[in-house]
Amino acid sequence: MRRILVTGGAGFIGANFVRMVLSEQPDTLVVNLDKLTYAGNLENLAGFTDHPNYVFVRGDILDAKLVEKLVTDHQIDAIVNFAAESHVDRSLVDPGIFIETNVNGTLTLLKIALGKKLERFIQISTDEVYGSLGDTGKFTEETPISPNSPYSASKAAADHLVRAFGHSWGLRYNITRCSNNYGEYQFPEKMIPLMINNALGDKALPVYGDGLYVRDWLYVYDHCTAIWKVLTEAAPGEIFNIGGNNEKTNLEVVGLILSRLQKRTALIRHVTDRPGHDRRYAIDSSKIMRQLGWKPSVTFEIGINKTIDWYLTNETWLRHVVSGQYQQYYESMYDNR
Ligand code: NAD
Ligand code: DAU
Repeated sequence: MRRILVTGGAGFIGANFVRMVLSEQPDTLVVNLDKLTYAGNLENLAGFTDHPNYVFVRGDILDAKLVEKLVTDHQIDAIVNFAAESHVDRSLVDPGIFIETNVNGTLTLLKIALGKKLERFIQISTDEVYGSLGDTGKFTEETPISPNSPYSASKAAADHLVRAFGHSWGLRYNITRCSNNYGEYQFPEKMIPLMINNALGDKALPVYGDGLYVRDWLYVYDHCTAIWKVLTEAAPGEIFNIGGNNEKTNLEVVGLILSRLQKRTALIRHVTDRPGHDRRYAIDSSKIMRQLGWKPSVTFEIGINKTIDWYLTNETWLRHVVSGQYQQYYESMYDNR
């Protein structure tokens, strides 16, 4: 039996990964360690709580004693590290916690993975470590690291640490760098679920700047299948880019959402831009496609419609996440913007 410690498995991508593994890989034990910050939500794992191959532990990746105990008690052979502060806008307001979790938290996990001689350490990173592109070209695994926000700087620092542990002491690792994910269970601070939620409530859709920023959208389930392939098939020490080959401007995405929900484009409001906003991301995924035979399962048009429909049929989930704290967050970020 494969025995993995997933960190941050109550967040958006982590929960989708846990759900996929427990549904499709019967011979795998999943221990999910999550601090349950504002972004962690046990409702993302509804239906899996009593699964015989699943253990949930609320805790911090900075708690070395706890992580060490989990690795020993459950005879873990790999860590998949999703745990992070993940929102660029929040990092521009309060960068400190990004360094704590994303850098020091990863360092804590790395020391344990090395000390316990784990078979593999998978670091879930991001294409944002490469910085921003002009009108042409794509990020490859050889693109120089050049992060622009405190969030991406913290992720880049973590990537460097992972690589250094491999280089210096032989840690068996992989780093995955993916583009923007979308899909079920995404917290509505990120652009797609925020716009869906606002459109459903006939609230203004706050588009930063001219709305012509480009992201390369990847359906979350396809990201999860790629991570599984890396975990189970890749040679150690390899870095893989993962993208959906779906470049869209933010205005195009917002237009698709409004049209699916049959709402008026008059809801769009251009608001003050994000400081240092990266203009364009695009990922060259040819390495993972060639070496591991991965390919995305859906086009953006299919994935976005599935996603919008999911938010429509999971109104209770959405209502819970946008209550309380979220309202204060929204007001502080968007009122008078
Ligand atoms: P998320 O914010 O939805 O979830 C993060 C999870 O980590 C939450 O459940 C939170 O409770 C947990 N967490 C935070 N601090 C923790 C700590 N100290 N100890 C234990 N758990 C902690 O994030 P996401 O969008 O699911 O992203 C997951 C990973 O993928 C992150 O590392 C992020 O950098 C990376 N990534 C995300 C995207 C994207 O589009 N969302 C794209 C590329 C890379
Ligand atoms: O590229 C991978 C990264 O994608 C991940 O590493 C990050 O964790 C993830 O949050 C995401 O970062 P972005 O900053 O690209 O995602 P976000 O959803 O915040 O914004 C997407 C685009 O939409 C971006 O150009 C900013 C714009 N935007 C965002 C919000 C929240 C708006 O125009 N209005 C908004 O209200």
